[in-house]
Amino acid sequence: MMGNTAFDEINEAKACMDHVYDQFDPRAYFRELKKLGYAIPSAAKPIFQNLIGHLQQRRDDTVHVLDLGCSYGVNAALLKHDMSMPELYQHWGQNRQADETPEEFVEYHQRFFDDLDEPEDIEVIGLDVAENAVAFAKEIGLLDVGLAINLETQPLPASAEEELALVDLVTSTGCVGYVTEKSFERLLPAITRDRQPWIANFVLRMFPFDAIEETLSGRGYITEKLEGQTYVQRAFASVEEQGQVLEQLREEGIDPTGKEAEGDLLAEFYLSRPIKDAAEVPIERLFAA
Ligand SMILES: C[S@@+](CC[C@H](N)C(=O)[O-])C[C@H]1O[C@@H](n2cnc3c(N)ncnc32)[C@H](O)[C@@H]1O
Repeated sequence: MMGNTAFDEINEAKACMDHVYDQFDPRAYFRELKKLGYAIPSAAKPIFQNLIGHLQQRRDDTVHVLDLGCSYGVNAALLKHDMSMPELYQHWGQNRQADETPEEFVEYHQRFFDDLDEPEDIEVIGLDVAENAVAFAKEIGLLDVGLAINLETQPLPASAEEELALVDLVTSTGCVGYVTEKSFERLLPAITRDRQPWIANFVLRMFPFDAIEETLSGRGYITEKLEGQTYVQRAFASVEEQGQVLEQLREEGIDPTGKEAEGDLLAEFYLSRPIKDAAEVPIERLFAA
């Protein structure tokens, strides 16, 4: 799914989950990730909500979110409907009738999400290489726009430019590493055409963010990391995975003692904003309690 040699090599340390990313529905994804306590969307939710709140004050209008690596609409479900990961695990993990048709399955989930409140005034554009996942999230209404594209290998289709020009906030969880600076290079002309969206990435510590930071800096962005904070992405899938990741981290000069050595893959939070916005409200003030 990628095209970046440096990240390809780092990814080899991680367990491969590709088989659950592009199924007709999210059940296998949630089943597999529940076993590993996949939790990064939960950790990201209050941070994204905070950013949406700030952007809403500035715009006084619907905030348009572009979720990179949106999968089956996980962040959209959490942000639009104020759901939690345990609720999603429960909802998408339930056993329904064995003879249910795919159409009935989709209708059931459409109705379920239609009936939920939408406390945030947001629209979510989801981008992911996984066509089935994007189609499902769009059909059940979690995504307002679904873009099934791989910007690592293809240019941005002209047909996506209008929608992307509306974006106020780019989010990602569990996606950098699959996407690299290439995807950002291809996105930036469209997303910065009319607005200067904030870009909020949760990134595993094993993936250096420098190249993406440099690409964004070329467009007048400054990237800040929330210092001293790490967020649990998931448990290691095996002792082998943990060993490989610890080795990778040490090779990169990152000390895993008391962190990944304890048993979880950890992410950090990077916020990239136009220089003027970052100067107006420093990152510490954005997240002051
Ligand atoms: C670990 S999952 C994270 C999904 C979701 N953001 C979450 O946190 O639950 C990684 C996602 O990245 C997607 N992905 C992989 N390569 C990609 C690419 N080149 N462009 C966009 N998405 C990609 C996968 O299809 C998958 O949905």
